[in-house]
Amino acid sequence: MQVDYPTLAKTIAALTEGETDKVALMATLACELHHADDRFDWTGFYRVVAPELLKIGPYQGGHGCLVIPFSRGVCGTAARTGQVQLVADVDEFPGHIACASSTRSEIVLPVFDAAGTVIAVLDIDSNQPAAFDEVDARELSAILAAVFGRG
Ligand code: SME
Repeated sequence: MQVDYPTLAKTIAALTEGETDKVALMATLACELHHADDRFDWTGFYRVVAPELLKIGPYQGGHGCLVIPFSRGVCGTAARTGQVQLVADVDEFPGHIACASSTRSEIVLPVFDAAGTVIAVLDIDSNQPAAFDEVDARELSAILAAVFGRG
């Protein structure tokens, strides 16, 4: 099943309307995103818990590593740069952290609050090579901005 982003965005908007608790929002998005597309084999958040430090948040899929410094991995790179990381082949990404040996490709997006501060990253792993593209980057970024970027 391939995600229908306009419908997914409407569903998430309805489910999260009026909610401000970040854990509740992350849990809802991890669930809705994960079950929206067969490409998504691990879907979850890493939260900024201290300067230059990420800690796992709500996720769906096998266990993920608990702590990631900004200096490491695809997640750390997304948090450090504030840029979406589109990784077609994880074996080609220097310092990729493999939580599952089955992961072939990955997209990691920074999550910004209303002030424009990176508060987390959204990590989606796929067992398919080159599973993600600019459409995913654009549509997922828009969903994250709608949920976490509102004042
Ligand atoms: N692959 C990520 C680590 C998180 S596990 O995939 C859930 C990274 O390189 O930062």
